[in-house]
Amino acid sequence: MIRVNDVSGDVAIGIFDSGIGGLTVYQQIAALLPAENLIYLGDTARCPYGTKSHDVVTQYACENSDFLAERNIKMLVVACNTASAVALMALQERYTIPVIGVIRPGALAAVRSSQNRKIGVIGTEATIASGAYTKALRALDPSLEIYTRACPLLVPLVEEGWVENDVARSTVATYLSSLKQSGIDTLILGCTHYPLLKKTIAVYLGDHVELIDSAEETAKVVVETLSDNHRTQSNGPGRGSFFVTDSPDQFIKVGARFLGDVVESAVRLER
Ligand code: DGL
Repeated sequence: MIRVNDVSGDVAIGIFDSGIGGLTVYQQIAALLPAENLIYLGDTARCPYGTKSHDVVTQYACENSDFLAERNIKMLVVACNTASAVALMALQERYTIPVIGVIRPGALAAVRSSQNRKIGVIGTEATIASGAYTKALRALDPSLEIYTRACPLLVPLVEEGWVENDVARSTVATYLSSLKQSGIDTLILGCTHYPLLKKTIAVYLGDHVELIDSAEETAKVVVETLSDNHRTQSNGPGRGSFFVTDSPDQFIKVGARFLGDVVESAVRLER
């Protein structure tokens, strides 16, 4: 187990994702905890994780987390559904600090929201194949009807900024038609990129289907988990630092689509 020593005061919260999508989680944490310092690592050189094997995703997740742990963080947020689905337990066993993933917060919010107990989950191939959402949902309520669908083309669409055009609309319709027919009243957006498609998905499924954004739910769990004596004493605003494993320029450019101009600069890691 890797002991992370100083967990008080102005020590940062570490956040990582396979790339840019975890900025949706970063944004929500920054909104709820504006005085905290945040360090974000986007493993852009090795993205996507969603098509890779569990072993490889776990190895990448450990390497990313070790990088953040070396910066003496007080909490680790796995802002990637795929890494949370396959590697969360390995990371929780690896460090002495709290490690928070995005799966359970999303599942909890979905169970709270559903009236008819029919819940849909969309995510990458690895996330859906892992069954992590199904397990988390069943643990909360074994009587749920759960419908899942891997939607691998949605990540590149978002990266391209195609979130509200004809291609986005028809891809969403193709992926979600069986979920729509199954009568779900709640859909978990089980991938960091999907909140950017919220509008298009909402129009296709209609108002009666609640969309659960794991980013929002995870940020709430971060706030709950950060006990009072681990909060920064500073009045802020906190510092945001961004690291990437590929070109910072591309990260900043695509990041602007996620966050506006919040990511002004990023440092490329040499591994
Ligand atoms: N961040 C990933 C997730 O939330 C999506 C991109 C990828 O496949 O790496 O599952």
